[in-house]
Formats: sequence, C-alpha cells, structure tokens
Amino acid sequence: MMKNPRIYTIFLLILVLGDLSSNAEAKAFFVFGDSLVDNGNNNYLVTTARADAPPYGIDYPSHRPTGRFSNGLNIPDIISETNGWEPTLPYLSPELTGQKLLVGANFASAGVGVLNDTGIQFVNIIRIYQQLNLFKQYQQRLSEVIGREETDKVVKDSLVLITLGGNDFVNNYYLVPFSIRSQQYSLEDYVPFVISEYKKVLHRLYNLGARRVLVTGTGPLGCVPAELAQHSRNGECAAELMRAAALFNPQLVQMLDQLNRKFGANVFIAANTNQMHLDFISNPQQFGFVTSKIACCGQGPYNGVGLCTPLSNLCPNRDAYVFWDPFHPSERANRLIVQQILTGSNTYMHPMNLSTILAMDSRA
Ligand SMILES: *[C@@H]1O[C@H](CO)[C@@H](O)[C@H](O)[C@H]1NC(C)=O
Ligand SMILES: *[C@@H]1O[C@H](CO)[C@@H](O)[C@H](O)[C@H]1NC(C)=O
Repeated sequence: MMKNPRIYTIFLLILVLGDLSSNAEAKAFFVFGDSLVDNGNNNYLVTTARADAPPYGIDYPSHRPTGRFSNGLNIPDIISETNGWEPTLPYLSPELTGQKLLVGANFASAGVGVLNDTGIQFVNIIRIYQQLNLFKQYQQRLSEVIGREETDKVVKDSLVLITLGGNDFVNNYYLVPFSIRSQQYSLEDYVPFVISEYKKVLHRLYNLGARRVLVTGTGPLGCVPAELAQHSRNGECAAELMRAAALFNPQLVQMLDQLNRKFGANVFIAANTNQMHLDFISNPQQFGFVTSKIACCGQGPYNGVGLCTPLSNLCPNRDAYVFWDPFHPSERANRLIVQQILTGSNTYMHPMNLSTILAMDSRA
C-alpha cells in the first residue's frame, strides 16, 4: 500500500510520537487530604463529617450531593477538567476497578489533619497515614492489572495534590478553649510540631513513589464565615486563627524547600492558597464576588453558624459568593484558585506554577 519507504517511516514516526504525547497528557492524578479535596470517601464511612444532603451539589452536573463540600466542583475536579483528564473517583468507590485505576484515585477524607488526634470528634475518618496505606494498596491493585513495572511508572509520572493543616487548628488546637494541644504547646511551638509531622507524611509519600506533589497551604483560617460568626463584631477576621495561618504557611514553604534540596529535585510545589483567598477578601468585587464574608448556605450571622443543611438559608447565585458554606469555597472561588495554581506568578506558586511543571514533564 505504501510504496515509498521514506513516507512510511515518517508515517510511523508520527504515529509513535502522537502516541507518546497523548500518554504524557494522560497523567494519573492522586489526591490526599481533608474536606477541601474529599470527593466522596466519607459517604462510605460512619462519620458526622459528610456532605451527602442537599443543597450540597446543587450546581454539580447531576445537581445532587456527591460528598464534595462544594455547591459544584472542588479543586481536584477542576485540575482534572482543565487538563482534560477524567475526574478521579473516591478510593472507596466500588466503581474504581480495572482500567479506571489508571485515572488515579482520591484518598481524601473530610475532617482529617496532619496529626492523628485531629478530627477525633468525627469518629471514623481516613487519617492521613491510612490514606497513605490505601495508596500502597492501590498500587498493589493496579499492578495486578498492568504489572509492577508499569505501575511504578504510572506513579512516578503522576501528579499528586495534598491539602492538610487547617483542621489541625480549627478541629484540634482551637476546637475548644483549653484544648489538650493548646495546654501542651504555645502556638509558636505547635506550628513547628505540625510542620515536622507533615514533613514525615510527605517523606512517606515520596517513598511510595510520588515525584510531583502539589502542596496547598491553609487559607486565612480566621476569615471563614464560621469564625466570623463566632469572633467578629465588624467583619474583621479572627486574630488568633490569622496568626496561626501566618505562622504555618511560610514554615510549610521552608519545609518543602528542605525536602526538595534533600531529594535534589522540585518534587514538592507550594500553592499559596492563603494569598489567593486574601485577594478575594481584600477586594471581592474585583473577582466578581458580592461578598467574601457571608456564606451562601448557612444560618445566623454571616450564615456562619452550624452546618449547611436542607433547612439553611441558600443564596440564589452561588457564583457571587467566595464561600459556599461556613468553611468551604464555592465552585467559582475554586476555579479562580486553580487558575492561579496553573498559571500564577512566584507570589502564588513556589518554585513554579503547574503549567510550567506539566510542560517540563511532557518534554522529559
Ligand atoms: C500517627 O500514626 C501513625 C500510624 O498509625 C504513626 O506511624 C505515627 O507515628 C503517629 N504520629 C504520632 C505523632 O503519633
Ligand atoms: C508560570 O510560571 C512561569 C515560570 O515561572 C512563568 O514564566 C509564567 O509567566 C507563569 N505563567 C503565568 C501566566 O504567569
């Protein structure tokens, strides 16, 4: 059929190269952490930390609750969407079998923190070391489908997102006055303790094969509607939690730099979600929001008291709100955050943004 061998070779080359580039695009994606990134694992657990009732999911394609703490998509969903990847399934989903495993998996569980004692009030959640054990189990399951060598390559070439830390303050140190941790540590000593424990978690992730890990800091914890409702008279952010975020985030970046130096590569990439949120808070109108203080779904001052339930106040236009519920951003805020993760300057992404990394990796 093809008489000219030269043309045939070029034709083959195009086939092979085309195939390589599409392989590079279809990275596996793994997600670890708390409610900011959980996409439904807690639905399978006996816990009070869940988002399985309306109006959660009201703007999701199905318009039904999925377990995501959002009106629609959350940060990992949007990262998958913008890269043209299939969304990851929750690791506990029975649908996660066979070829679906190649997409990756989401191990996150609402309520967890860096520390094992964070979120104990939520009873049965997947604490971070258990998430890592499940990642190991996942690799075993994938290797039964595609073999050990291919599995190692899928993991090495994958993108990982981990979001932890907020609950170590909100649902541990500051959960109640005179909490055990606050009697044990001053805030100045607690933060380095959490960071040193986080370092062990990330080290373990590296040992499990992760080589590109996006690590988000905490938001400005004192500015969420739940904290405004408890502590704010005139809409000012709660000072103690602001102090916690201001100590935690720079120390996190330092720790990631240490790990990168140790491993001799930019394995860990810091996303300054604190600054991204502060931008929304300092000038919500600039981003098309009506308010950064009042939650769309909730009750009481700032709609920040209690949980978002079928009986709560519900705003008609979710896109006008930075916060969907008393703690979690709206889908639109999540979209702006992902945009910064992808293309942000060094103020937001350290040492570089995600689009730079993906471009580097697809050339490698
Ligand atoms: C947390 O639990 C893991 C495993 O269950 C353990 O290896 C680790 O040492 C614990 N961390 C602390 C600070 O106790
Ligand atoms: C992403 O990072 C690269 C490298 O730091 C930078 O050149 C580029 O401008 C960033 N993207 C945008 C849209 O700022």
